Amino acid sequence: MDRRRFIILGSAGSVAVLTGCGGGGGAAMPPTGTAPPPASPPVANPPPATPVSPLTAGQPLTDLARLPNTSASPGVFDAALVAQRASKSMLPGTSTEFWTYNSLVPGPLIDVFEGDTVRIRLENRLSQQTTVHWHGLPVPPDQDGNPMDPVAPGASRLYEFTLPVGSAGTYWYHPHPHELTAEQVFRGMAGLFIVRPRTDPVPAAIEEKLLVISDLRLAADGTIPSNTAMDWQNGREGNYVLVNGQNQPVLTINPGQSQRWRILNATNARYLRLALTGHTMTLIGTDGGLLRTPVPGLDEILLAPAERVDVIVTANLSSRASAVLQALPYDRGSMGMMGFSTSTIPLLTLNYTSAATAAVALPGALNSIADLGVPTKTRRLVFSSGMGMGGMGMGGMMSFLIDGRSFDPTRIDLTSRVNEVEQWTIENRSSMDHPFHLHGTQFQVVSRTHGGVATAEPYLAWRDTVNVPAFETVVFKVVQRQPGKRMYHCHILEHEDQGMMGVLEVVA
Ligand code: C2O
Ligand code: CU
Ligand code: CU
Repeated sequence: MDRRRFIILGSAGSVAVLTGCGGGGGAAMPPTGTAPPPASPPVANPPPATPVSPLTAGQPLTDLARLPNTSASPGVFDAALVAQRASKSMLPGTSTEFWTYNSLVPGPLIDVFEGDTVRIRLENRLSQQTTVHWHGLPVPPDQDGNPMDPVAPGASRLYEFTLPVGSAGTYWYHPHPHELTAEQVFRGMAGLFIVRPRTDPVPAAIEEKLLVISDLRLAADGTIPSNTAMDWQNGREGNYVLVNGQNQPVLTINPGQSQRWRILNATNARYLRLALTGHTMTLIGTDGGLLRTPVPGLDEILLAPAERVDVIVTANLSSRASAVLQALPYDRGSMGMMGFSTSTIPLLTLNYTSAATAAVALPGALNSIADLGVPTKTRRLVFSSGMGMGGMGMGGMMSFLIDGRSFDPTRIDLTSRVNEVEQWTIENRSSMDHPFHLHGTQFQVVSRTHGGVATAEPYLAWRDTVNVPAFETVVFKVVQRQPGKRMYHCHILEHEDQGMMGVLEVVA
């Protein structure tokens, strides 16, 4: 655990609250699970009177701190996660209180192998309930941190699961408590979870870099403000986009060198249209693992909230300039009042060294993805939103619905059979994009509409999250392998907290 960067408030077991912390500090949060909505009646925050001074930029990219394995047995990963507050100085002369896993922002890297048994004890030192959800991993439903299984403040629980062979991929973990997920994530709780194959088809000579992209909104006094009514509608975007918790860090590369970048969009709501100036990218993997073959020559990659990609970046040999990884403007629609992401945001600088390195060739075949086959059941889900439809959102104005309903943890919305191949059509009848996410398994996108015209997906890929643009439709095939209850929802976390979520019961 890297604690150098933090001043830890309070000793083990206590919950420290910073004085001078704004309304979002959390001291007044409801303590338990059947809590009222997390925001007091929201009032749009006025813009800060004085501009926020910039965060330090240009530091070397730090590697993610690793969650230590305390097990001596091969094939067993034993570890502890502590949900607790921790403070760090972000703006000069101020202190910012985060909610963290193990006092780290982002949370520690969990790095395991296929076949491993993972046992992680969560200790909740927050003043409200939480859970740990293992986003994208095929874990049993009762180990998946569903909102129906909260860990009370002061309590702890063990999560235990075995990762099957074939599950290698780039996953993440984050809290999933009923109505409190958005706030716990935007205050700092999220981490990367890598599952490696015993033999990786990507040559080890290709250096791997892990990039966790998160959003941070800081007030001028260094506090992290609560969501505004607008945030509850459109999803919160911060005023900084961080990579591994750093503002515009620097990564170095040798001319000609290839690097493997695993990138996670851990933001609540920001769409990352990633581009690297002067370079193309080669896509080799998505959420749930490697593609069959590399997809080279990409000028940009759209990474919706919760999505991950595995890409190869190769430095030029001829022009030895530095490059910038950017998030280009993307219009994700809105609930009618403001647009989003209208500017290009620099995320990371790639600096060339002078020593050239020979590029390492990628194998032509990376992974054997079998097509899930002919579906024997089809279903259609409809995203909608509007004023006063089926209940009020936490913003007090708008509701966010799936099939016309708002989430009810006691209701079963859909039923599937174990091992049955299904085809799901997700139709978005609202004026903004929503990233659809399903727990417990990976799916294969079959087609997507653009301007209402369907296009077949060009390659097979394992995904657990897919963007459904405003007024468009996405079709995928999916099989659930384990019985129990699974969540499906929009991964704009403000929408999820406001009920854009349902329960799928998988029966044997
Ligand atoms: Cu990443 Cu249901 O969550
Ligand atoms: Cu998930
Ligand atoms: Cu949404």
